[in-house]
Amino acid sequence: MRRLNVPLGDRSYDVVVGRGVSAELASLLPATAQRAAVITQDGIPAEIVLPGLDVETFVIGQGEGAKTLHTIETLVRGFAGMGLTRNDVVIGVGGGMVTDVAGFAASTWHRGIPVVHVSTSLLGMVDAAIGGKTGVNLPEGKNLVGAYWQPTGVLCDLDFLDTLPPREMRCGLGEMAKYHFLTGDDLLAMDLEARVARCIEIKAEVVASDEREGGRRALLNYGHTFAHALEIATQHELAHGEAVAVGLIYAAELGFELGRIDAARVQEHRAVVAGEYDLMTNPPLGLDADELVSLMYRDKKAVGSGLTYVLDGPAGLEVVSGVGETQVRAAMARILG
Ligand code: GLY
Repeated sequence: MRRLNVPLGDRSYDVVVGRGVSAELASLLPATAQRAAVITQDGIPAEIVLPGLDVETFVIGQGEGAKTLHTIETLVRGFAGMGLTRNDVVIGVGGGMVTDVAGFAASTWHRGIPVVHVSTSLLGMVDAAIGGKTGVNLPEGKNLVGAYWQPTGVLCDLDFLDTLPPREMRCGLGEMAKYHFLTGDDLLAMDLEARVARCIEIKAEVVASDEREGGRRALLNYGHTFAHALEIATQHELAHGEAVAVGLIYAAELGFELGRIDAARVQEHRAVVAGEYDLMTNPPLGLDADELVSLMYRDKKAVGSGLTYVLDGPAGLEVVSGVGETQVRAAMARILG
């Protein structure tokens, strides 16, 4: 078992990683809690045992379509019904969708109460449950309404991954491939516990240096601008991590188009994503380039006019604004086929 820390001053918290670590949950809860609102989904394998607490469980819907303000309203009305106070705790038990929703509900209830995440997916463990980004979707786009709300603890019991469907495992690998380009670490050479812990360590360090994405934290969105557009254009047929894998290749092609990286580095992206991580590198056929471009203009990283991306270059990953549509379309043509 490893106990890592996300160092954020008086909002610092621990992340416990390992096999069979669920018994550690009690050590992550605020001492004041008398009630726990557990938010989860059908089919989540985790069994949460919280002796001494009054527990009410809220089961939310599956998929991006249930990640809505309506779900938040239903939850907070449930909190009202159970008399949840600022001394109590919300516990999100599930993948990234559940912890995003649980975190946002906790951030708004009584203007913010403690939340602990029990992450049950690889993507959640290495990304979504760490760092305090919470939120829900609007019909206009993904995660457009939300808050930064750090958890008071995160539990990553690797036993949950034993029953994770292969597709969800691939989604986690998509985010892991992103960490490869952030640090150059050979994550696949590590055992599962070390690998998950290393991703959390990298993310914790970036979040601690730029909690509210004033600059450096945006680097965690490498591959995500095109990925978010792909998710919407395919009506979420492509899952987030799958879209990130394709988005990494798109970002490499765009970096090449702008003269920031050479063909060998683009090839390295393909070798890592397709070879080492065994992920897809091309989007499904039949997507409309105009729609993808217009979706990318709505990206949250965009400030002012023009398109903004995280791109590789001689100094590593950087946020690049004002990217021309000509290059954006040329890079897209190479991966849309
Ligand atoms: N998933 C990117 C971030 O947490 O900043």
